[in-house]
Amino acid sequence: MKVAVVGGGSTYTPELVDGFARLPFAVDEVVLIDPAVSRLGVVGEFGRRIVARYGSAVRLTWTDDLDAGLTDADVVLLQLRVGGQETRISDETFPLECGCVGQETTGAGGLAKALRTVPVVLDIARAARRRAAPDAWVIAFTNPVGIVTRALLDDGHRALGLCNVAIGVQRSLAGLLDVTPDAVTLDHVGLNHLTWARAATVNGVDRLPELIAKHGDDLAEPLGLPAELLRLSGTLPSYYLRYFYAHDSVVAEERTSKPRGARVAEIERELLDLYRDPALDEKPELLTQRGGAYYSEAAIGLLASLHGSPGRHAVNVRNDGTLPNLPSDAVVEVMCDVSAGGAVPVPTTPLAPDHAGLVSHVSAYEELAVDAALRGGADRVFRALLAHPLVGQADQARGLTDRLLAANSEFLAWA
Ligand code: G6P
Ligand code: MN
Repeated sequence: MKVAVVGGGSTYTPELVDGFARLPFAVDEVVLIDPAVSRLGVVGEFGRRIVARYGSAVRLTWTDDLDAGLTDADVVLLQLRVGGQETRISDETFPLECGCVGQETTGAGGLAKALRTVPVVLDIARAARRRAAPDAWVIAFTNPVGIVTRALLDDGHRALGLCNVAIGVQRSLAGLLDVTPDAVTLDHVGLNHLTWARAATVNGVDRLPELIAKHGDDLAEPLGLPAELLRLSGTLPSYYLRYFYAHDSVVAEERTSKPRGARVAEIERELLDLYRDPALDEKPELLTQRGGAYYSEAAIGLLASLHGSPGRHAVNVRNDGTLPNLPSDAVVEVMCDVSAGGAVPVPTTPLAPDHAGLVSHVSAYEELAVDAALRGGADRVFRALLAHPLVGQADQARGLTDRLLAANSEFLAWA
């Protein structure tokens, strides 16, 4: 199997290469594709040392030529970031001027990222359609994953969206239960970065009620949310729900702290310095400070299931009736049975009214966001923002639209 990683010069890539090198199934070739050639060389050389350390037969190459890299790929993994950390810092700061959360995937910052990203991703997927293997999978890690996946599916690609939130929750609950992560089956449901765990089943028994009763405070604390939210709903929200359930406190905090993108830029510089050391042949500890820790395990688990060993994974797919409160063509993040034929959502119970309301609201925004990304225009941007539950007021949507367009004009062909 040949895997092409678009955005392969990312400092995250060693995490992925480490996963491929340990794989029990055949990845013969991994090609890292990135326009940032010098960075690509540093990450690529380091990746080769990781591969050698495991004595793996994976052939690791790199190129800045997209078409060449995609040729005959069986899997195209998207992990690019248009405009790098600078645009992320913009996404995390301009919304604050209008009293809205500054976040790279949620609210106005997430829309800015979607507008920059969707056209680029579609160009890449169309190139893959010409160059890659005829039944190649496009796996989107590029945020905002829900919107990007929806745009890919609307354009007819064989695409799935992936995120590491579910795998992180599975690991932390497994730790509390003193079992291996594999032993825990989640009922993880919602939209990308808007999910709840509704059950955590071990040996046929749902242990989530017991976990919330015993460890509610410890589970709620890292989410920055009151434990009563867990107790009242009987669910464990993902940490992205904090931007909704604690919106104003997050805005207050963000006004006086350094944007996450600035910290990540520092971590990336330090990581690249470490990667340049010819003696280093394993993932450095510093990499665990990134939110994407363990994303390689999500990717590898999914690839293994698409290529021969079926399994259950949290994946972004078409709704197709899975959540009855949403249209069929919405994209949802739910548990799926994955095999060579693709990802089939596991039938699940409808969302509780409070969760269904929020999910419907955000899903409507996502539909408008895809439309704005494809067709452009300040009016479509305004409409999408007005539809977002964290915006909703005309004056605020206007202020955000103006700032978003001013900050992103170099990336938006139509602006
Ligand atoms: C989690 C999310 C990813 C996101 C990352 C940010 O892993 O699921 O979608 O990209 O956090 O982490 P960072 O270290 O860049 O802040
Ligand atoms: Mn994610």
